[in-house]
Amino acid sequence: MSLHPLTRRLMAPDITAMKRVKPVIALTSYHAHTAAIADKYCDFLLVGDSLGMVMHGFETTVPVTLDMMIVHGRAVVRGAKRALVAVDMPFGSYEESPSVAFRNASRVMKETDCGAVKLEGGRRMAETTRYLVERGIPVMGHIGLTPQSINVLGGFKTQGRTRDEWAAIEEDARALADAGAFAIVLEAMSAPLAARITEAIPIPTIGIGASSNCDGQILVMEDMLGLSPRVPKFVKKFGAVATAIEDAIRAYAEDVGERRFPAEEHTYAMKEPAPSVILPPQATKKPKKLST
Ligand code: KIV
Repeated sequence: MSLHPLTRRLMAPDITAMKRVKPVIALTSYHAHTAAIADKYCDFLLVGDSLGMVMHGFETTVPVTLDMMIVHGRAVVRGAKRALVAVDMPFGSYEESPSVAFRNASRVMKETDCGAVKLEGGRRMAETTRYLVERGIPVMGHIGLTPQSINVLGGFKTQGRTRDEWAAIEEDARALADAGAFAIVLEAMSAPLAARITEAIPIPTIGIGASSNCDGQILVMEDMLGLSPRVPKFVKKFGAVATAIEDAIRAYAEDVGERRFPAEEHTYAMKEPAPSVILPPQATKKPKKLST
């Protein structure tokens, strides 16, 4: 558990300084109220573009727009007071050139007040990472499985399970660290490769499906809460929120159906003597069965 006495918001260099000092604790967040809860325990909150799948029901993260990221980014920054908030740059908003990336990332920073952005890609994003960092935008890298490339990869595939894949992924990590990234997400990666990268670079590795060899961990909040209907193998469900929501909604529907809710304590009385009101007759007829 990470309950810190600090009141100022953590910044990118604070996350970097945690390497070999303490595990970096992170979750995704898309929503002010859950951000306020996670803020008590997490070092950073990521407004991930997984919000496209989790909040908006897309099949992949590819359709997510900059405007969607900004709306959710603002909500999370309002909810969290202490954790660093990083916002994902969505597909198509940064790959074209460093200057396009700067234009869009600076818009995200200004309009959400977040403290960092995250880009997917290793060596191919090193120049852009350097360009943004030199101009005041902290960058978190993301290598291994990069979901925005799903259409090239051909599926959500674990990376680095054969030795011949290792050198390229290690080079990706070193290139981002050299370019000034303050941390790197390692997604869906074999445990020994995650260990090698963590040992090799001076910035924290944040694992999601990349073993306890990483310097920190992140999960999609809805997955670990037990709200997402399908989760990858690497997710541990720390809650059963889908069941809790369904139980509550069933109880509500039963109470409304049986006229147990709202009860007197949920009802406003008049401040002056009430006029005698004639209530409309209650529906007593059974509803007609719908023909199928
Ligand atoms: O979008 C996201 O949720 C992410 C995490 C998988 C790290 O990038």
